[in-house]
Amino acid sequence: MRLLLLTHAFNSLTQRLFVELQALGHQLSIEFDINDSVTREAVALFRPHLILAPYLRRAIPEDVWRQHVCLIVHPGPVGDRGPSALDWAILRGEGEWGVTVLQAEAEMDAGPVWASASFPLRGAKKSSLYRNEVTEAAVMAVKAALDRWPEYQAGTWQPGQPALRPMHPLVTQADRRVDWARDDTVTVLAKLNSGDGFPGVRDSLFGRDCWLFDARPFDAVGNPGELLGRVGEGVVRGTVDGAVWIGHCKVEGGIKLPVGGVFGGDWLGLVEMDAALNPPQPPFTKGGSSSVVQQSASPFQKVDASLDQQPSPPFLKGGQGGIQTFPDPHITYAEHGPVGYLSFDFYNGAMGTTACENLLAAYAAARQRPTRVIVLLGGTDFFSNGLDLNRIEAADSPPDESWRNINAMDDLCRAILATDRQLTVSALAGNAGAGGAFLALAADRVWARRGVILNPHYKNMGNLYGSEYWSYLLPRRVGAERAAGIMGNRLPLGAADALREGFIDAAFGDDPATFQAETRARAQALAESPELESWLQAKARRRAEDEAAKPLEDYRAEELKHMQRNFYGFDPSYHVARHHFVAKTPHSWTPRHLAVHRDLGWVVPEGEG
Ligand code: COA
Repeated sequence: MRLLLLTHAFNSLTQRLFVELQALGHQLSIEFDINDSVTREAVALFRPHLILAPYLRRAIPEDVWRQHVCLIVHPGPVGDRGPSALDWAILRGEGEWGVTVLQAEAEMDAGPVWASASFPLRGAKKSSLYRNEVTEAAVMAVKAALDRWPEYQAGTWQPGQPALRPMHPLVTQADRRVDWARDDTVTVLAKLNSGDGFPGVRDSLFGRDCWLFDARPFDAVGNPGELLGRVGEGVVRGTVDGAVWIGHCKVEGGIKLPVGGVFGGDWLGLVEMDAALNPPQPPFTKGGSSSVVQQSASPFQKVDASLDQQPSPPFLKGGQGGIQTFPDPHITYAEHGPVGYLSFDFYNGAMGTTACENLLAAYAAARQRPTRVIVLLGGTDFFSNGLDLNRIEAADSPPDESWRNINAMDDLCRAILATDRQLTVSALAGNAGAGGAFLALAADRVWARRGVILNPHYKNMGNLYGSEYWSYLLPRRVGAERAAGIMGNRLPLGAADALREGFIDAAFGDDPATFQAETRARAQALAESPELESWLQAKARRRAEDEAAKPLEDYRAEELKHMQRNFYGFDPSYHVARHHFVAKTPHSWTPRHLAVHRDLGWVVPEGEG
């Protein structure tokens, strides 16, 4: 079928559907929902059999839905209607939620239902639910809806009219407002989660209005609403029955940044509390003889004594530019037998300079351990999205901060590449983009959850050249020609395609929990394999041969030469693109590589249309 994806943006859900539907052999084109005439033009050019709207913020023009079947993906169960569907579900503490694929009609979310899928509602940020449960349910429901097409065409099946629930309104800040004197931790978290990643919950910190993001429960007691201290770059705030940690905020006219970065001196004045966040779900804490260690000044103090044969190297670097550095609560190290697991659950997968440096220190310490395999787990929602563009945007000198950040990222990649005593694995439970995707390739093995979407390219960010040793890592996995294709076409890569192309080595697990369980079993098997020694020898041999052919430092120098031009040169494209990305400037046109129907050579296949 020819399917037009009409969407507000090419977001993670749209990308996943794009990848899945393409794999089924459908012909796809994308148009951003910018205005009605652009939509009409796209429909006239592409002549789709069906229009699919995975992520819309406005109604489809009447003449379009009257002449074409338009299927809307609504993030709510059958009969649920209105905006803020997921927000309300979180605020009301629903136990189960769903996704409905319904046909567009005059009344919003009231059209006939083609398919639906449901899931238990996890206590998590809205964006996390969207990227995981909602996306999986949407893929299932959209595929089921498309399966109905032949019967629908033949007139042997009609979509059913649902029993409608009352339309719910847009969630307002009043609905989300935290009543610190009354709300318990669960309620505070539900309110903050309902607005994360957008629009946040309006509140105040240090007497200044701001929107709050990135909240986690924290094990402390204090006066409700009071700032009890700081951990990492966030603050701990009391609730009536405990406390929460808040990592990010946004002030009027500003962008989302770590609380410490926004409130500097005031924030520094808070007492520094124990780094252990409660929880960023350290993986693999259940069963077996695992031990979990939060990054701290002496990182391995809690590790199983039998494994603790090496001295613990110092974990933290000294202050940078007079600013105190701190243990990063997003970094967790756990050991299970001969396998070390390093997770780095940075907000939105963004890795700023200090995050990279702290992670490098954590990695260096992990390398010193007598383990056989090191697994890089990334975060739960994203493995990594590369440089922290928000921090760069907020820096006094974005070019300088970009330069520091990419060098810190490259140092981390190099340390992984240079690991000789252990086999390294990147295990991607969540998506990875730009430099974050190449960070994954620095490991010896790359595994991904089946639903993961990779964006292993940089050009969307103002023609950024990219570094992270991609010019070494990518061709050696997929060949030079395909490497050029991946970098040039700027399209998302699903795990199945990535596996077929050799970009990754395995894809398994339908949800993060099964992925983690299988990762653990596979890592254990690697570590215990009689072939491990020969794999390590082969790796050392190959690294030596590659180094002799062209030193890693040469790849880096070449990449950084381009990056230096991106950061400091005459062409400001990267800075402009970054600004629009960070400021979330609405699209004014659909990029040509997505809108196939706008290709000069595009014609509807003969006999069709
Ligand atoms: N730095 C800072 N924030 C980032 C980020 C980065 N590198 N990558 C993503 N984010 C933020 C987004 O701004 C968004 O913020 P929100 O919570 O305020 O909504 C959130 O993470 C999710 O990103 P979004 O773009 O909505 O997710 P997606 O799944 O639809 O798309 C990517 C994923 C990776 C394709 C897209 O985020 C992207 O292109 N990121 C930039 C990658 C990059 O160029 N890095 C720099 C070069 S290494």
